[in-house]
Formats: sequence, structure tokens, C-alpha cells
Amino acid sequence: YTPELIDQFGRRVDYIRLSITDRCDFRCVYCMGDDMVFLPREDVLSLEECARLVRTFVTLGVSKVRITGGEPLVRKNALTLFQEVGRLPGLRELTMTTNGSQLERYAHDLKKAGLSRINISMDSLDPERFRKITRVGDLDKVLRGIQAAKDAGFTHIKLNTVLMRGINDTEAIPLLEFAIQHSLDIAFIEEMPLGEVDHSRGDTYVSNQATLTLLQAHFPLISSTETTGGPARYWRVAHTNTRVGFISPHSHNFCEACNRVRITCKGELYLCLGQENKVDLMPLLRDHPHDDQPLREAIIASMQIKPKGHDFDLRRQAPSVIRFMSQTGG
Ligand code: GTP
Ligand code: 5AD
Ligand code: SF4
Repeated sequence: YTPELIDQFGRRVDYIRLSITDRCDFRCVYCMGDDMVFLPREDVLSLEECARLVRTFVTLGVSKVRITGGEPLVRKNALTLFQEVGRLPGLRELTMTTNGSQLERYAHDLKKAGLSRINISMDSLDPERFRKITRVGDLDKVLRGIQAAKDAGFTHIKLNTVLMRGINDTEAIPLLEFAIQHSLDIAFIEEMPLGEVDHSRGDTYVSNQATLTLLQAHFPLISSTETTGGPARYWRVAHTNTRVGFISPHSHNFCEACNRVRITCKGELYLCLGQENKVDLMPLLRDHPHDDQPLREAIIASMQIKPKGHDFDLRRQAPSVIRFMSQTGG
């Protein structure tokens, strides 16, 4: 018998997103300010504590784990966590969201560790624009990372694209062409108002409905009911291996079907990306090093404070949530 995590709205939580670092080697304009201050190392969970958290959630019925950051692969020895978690019986899917910059180096070992799928951020195929959006990123390195992931045998790779008006909104078609050419999936994400950034999210907003209409005029898209366990709604591109997903927090709310919670690298359990409700798990880990019961009880109790959904509103100037995406793990 495995207990289940069920919230007050009857939603079953079987998916955790664990951020293993708030650090990143990129500084994407929608995700961070350009003067980010990162957490001192002593405030961050050890990789052993991360593994213990995942193990505990798996005993509570969680079957899907996504490792996020920051950029997860800039965390020293991150690979050991993948190896540890990849061995857990009861885990159906181990996945990761990455900017791709370190994949050339790690793809092979990640595959061996049991990573099932990779989501890679990709906002532009133009090197200069890529640099502008990431502030410091090198497009070529990421393209080599994608190739390395394919060479390592990953068959489920999804690109994540945040389209912004006046910045990269002309790239939806070329990016989908690229995805088709490389047999990748791609998801277009409406930018979310997390953390104060240099532009106004209302000004750069591109609705996924507009992107879908544009793509439908250029590609034969067939609507699909498939899901990957996240919020994306997918369309298949006929005669290809590619699916196009739309993650539309503004134009199509998906909170009703929410199945996930997130854990920051400080061990805060956030019950919703767009709300402040959280439980601090670090003291439970550190005060009870040999007894998982207090931790389990706190996780079960947290279901009572999982909010119904986000209330992102682009008409407000201020961000809905003060923390940046890089601090919550996306
Ligand atoms: P899979 O379906 O497993 O591929 O995962 P995913 O697409 O949900 O994960 P990924 O890390 O690639 O996230 C893509 C985008 O979806 C990011 O911008 C996330 O912040 C966003 N996202 C994922 N889950 C949620 C959620 O619960 N709420 C909101 N508002 N956004 C989410
Ligand atoms: N809104 C939407 N998506 C974002 N991401 C980072 N910040 C934001 C934001 N404010 C995306 C990244 C990455 C994923 C985890 O979240 O591009 O692909
Ligand atoms: Fe779930 Fe909150 Fe995301 Fe909505 S915004 S899908 S409730 S985590």
C-alpha cells in the first residue's frame, strides 16, 4: 500500500520539481535581473539531503521527478544525485530542465544514470539574439549540447521557448522547423510575472493563441490529447516526430489539473509556482537525520495549503511573485 498526496481540491500530487541550485551560467532576461545575488552554499541542501527528499516523496506516491535549477548541471557533482535517484524503485520518470550549456559534457552519463527526458530552453536560433536574451549564453555550445543529448540516445527532448514581443516573436516558425529537422518536441511558454525584470511583461506578452494561429498557417497541426504530465497542451505536426506544446498560464489556465509541487534548493516546499504558500523542510531534515516520519507528516499536511491556482495578472506593473523563476525552479 502506497499512501497518496491529495490536496483539498482532490488533485493528486505525483510530480515533484526539485531545484538543486539557484545558480546559473546564463542570465535570461525573463528569468533574472542582471545583478542576481546567489545563495551562500551553506544555505543550500546537500545532495544527500536532496536524495533523501526524493526518496521520501516516492514513498508518498510521487512517481515523477524533474530536476531543475537555476541550471542544475552547474551544481558540483550533480551527476551523483541523478545516479542515486535514477536507481530508486517506484520512480516512473526522472527528468531534467536545463539550459543545455553543459550537456556536451554530461549527456552520456545522464543517460546512463537513468534520466528519461530532457527539456532544454531555446529562445533564438540567431547567435546575437540568443546572447541578448541570455545576456551571456553561447548558442553554439547549446546546439552542441542538443546534438550530444541525441547522440547519447535521448529520444524525448523538448525545447522550451518563451516568446517575447519585439525580442524573439519572429522565431516561432524557424524554431519549429528546427525542432522538426532534429525530431524534437517544442513548447511555447507565455512569460510569467515572477521577479522584477528589466522589461514590462505586459509589453512583451505574446499570446499562445496567436502563435498557434501563425503556426497552423505554416504546418499541418493535428490536435492531440497526449500529455507529458506538465501543463502543456500538444499538437502533432503531421508526418513528423515533433509535437508542439503550448504552456499558456495567461490565455488558458491549467491549474485545475495541477499534479505537482516544487522544492527550492533551500528545501522550501512551494505548493504553487505563483503563490507564496510553503513549508520549510530543511529543519525537518536536519533536526531528524535518522527519522523520516516528521518529514513525511509535514509533506502530507502541506496538501491542505496547496492553493487553487495562480493569479498572474499582466495588467499589474508589479510581479505577482517577488521571487524569480530561477529561485523556485520553474
Ligand atoms: P513535462 O511536461 O514533464 O515535459 O514538464 P514541463 O513542460 O512542465 O516542465 P518544464 O520544466 O519544461 O517547464 C516548462 C514551463 O512550464 C516553465 O516555464 C515552467 O515554469 C512552466 N510550468 C511547469 N509547471 C507549471 C505549473 O505548475 N504552473 C505554471 N504556472 N507553470 C508551470
Ligand atoms: N516565464 C515563463 N517561463 C520562464 N522560464 C524562466 N523564467 C520564466 C518566466 N518568467 C522558463 C525557462 C525554462 C523553464 C524552466 O522556465 O525558459 O525553460
Ligand atoms: Fe499548479 Fe500553481 Fe502551476 Fe497552477 S500555477 S498549475 S496551481 S503550480
